[in-house]
Amino acid sequence: MRIAVVKERAADETRVAATPDTVKKIVALGHVIVIETGAGSNASFPDDQFKAAGAEIAQDAGAAIKGADLLLKVRSPEADELAALPKGTGVVALMNPYGQKAAVEGYAKQGVAALAMEFVPRITRAQSMDALSSQSNLAGYRAVIEAAHLYGRGFPMMMTAAGTVAAAKVFIMGAGVAGLQAIATARRLGAIVTATDVRPAAKEQVASLGAKFVAVEDDEFKQAETAAGYAKAMSAEYQAKQAALVAEHIAKQDIVVTTALIPGRAAPVLVTEAMVMAMKPGSVVIDLAVSQGGNCPLSKPDVVVDTANGVKVAGFSNLPARLAADSSSLYARNLLALLPLLTDKDTKAFAPAWDDEIIKGAMLTKDGAVIHPAFAPQAATAA
Ligand code: NAI
Repeated sequence: MRIAVVKERAADETRVAATPDTVKKIVALGHVIVIETGAGSNASFPDDQFKAAGAEIAQDAGAAIKGADLLLKVRSPEADELAALPKGTGVVALMNPYGQKAAVEGYAKQGVAALAMEFVPRITRAQSMDALSSQSNLAGYRAVIEAAHLYGRGFPMMMTAAGTVAAAKVFIMGAGVAGLQAIATARRLGAIVTATDVRPAAKEQVASLGAKFVAVEDDEFKQAETAAGYAKAMSAEYQAKQAALVAEHIAKQDIVVTTALIPGRAAPVLVTEAMVMAMKPGSVVIDLAVSQGGNCPLSKPDVVVDTANGVKVAGFSNLPARLAADSSSLYARNLLALLPLLTDKDTKAFAPAWDDEIIKGAMLTKDGAVIHPAFAPQAATAA
């Protein structure tokens, strides 16, 4: 098949959906891959590296997409990119489907097979395709680096002839993929790290990274994990108890990194304005959930808010884009791992394995209809 990769158009997007490494492998699989000129330049992958790996370079997005069977992207397709895709072709991206429900209808209207990387089921066989994990891991790392940059003090304890520098106290809220990497990164920098989560399974993982677990561990907490391993929305009572415990804890912290998300819902508020006001001057709050409404009401996307009491609250909507080379490499590998499920083994043509549970879990549209259970009209009727 003919695969197209274009330069991402979103203003804050530096990643690219293929790397010279994945191009080489895609070509070895018997496909043709066309890359829009400059597509990898923000991720330190120049055209000549793609060319040397076996890609064709197209002069613009239109030329890259023309005749393609499959468009690989980081972010959901722009209107003109979608319009250039004939019926029956495929498009794969981080579609942000819950945030862009109308766009899902648009993919159906266009007659394309649109696959959302966020929806790849988290089963063992699909681990290599898990883009949420590959990108969250890097986001968790980068969140702590950004915090260290904004913090006017050091992270490790330093005993010098001129006196002792105290270790920073870092609190990570939400110990999923991003949170666990944030814990590990803060520990490597020498901070004293604590963490919280509503999923009981997180307690052991936090401890194994050398951080202390802080949470209200009542009966509701013991049942707070879905079969898929995600957090459930907690009751108002639990949230109040948890808030009281963390309010006291946060007042003593130098850095708070929040990563708490519940799929398909607004992010829970974990750090209230009052909690921020109780923090010491110079403290830093990093809100990774800012795009889904935020874990802190003071955070704004991609702005560092200086509060009246001298705290910096920073919301980052796209941290993986600040590590474009690594995040592109891992994302491109996720796409490469998915490719066999979109390919006819014998003819190498674009042919999604419609009966495979990974395709069933992640494909949004087919033959002009929305087919994903979270969006299909029949799901709404049944509900
Ligand atoms: P996520 O990005 O949806 O949420 C981040 C974290 O916030 C989660 O740990 C969640 O429990 C937590 N959270 C939600 N509400 C909260 C609240 N009110 N207070 C404190 N914390 C709250 O989650 P992510 O990182 O995508 O991972 C979810 C789970 O899936 C984890 O158990 C992870 O280990 C597991 N996982 C399994 C994989 C596999 O088996 N292939 C791959 C990746 C993750």
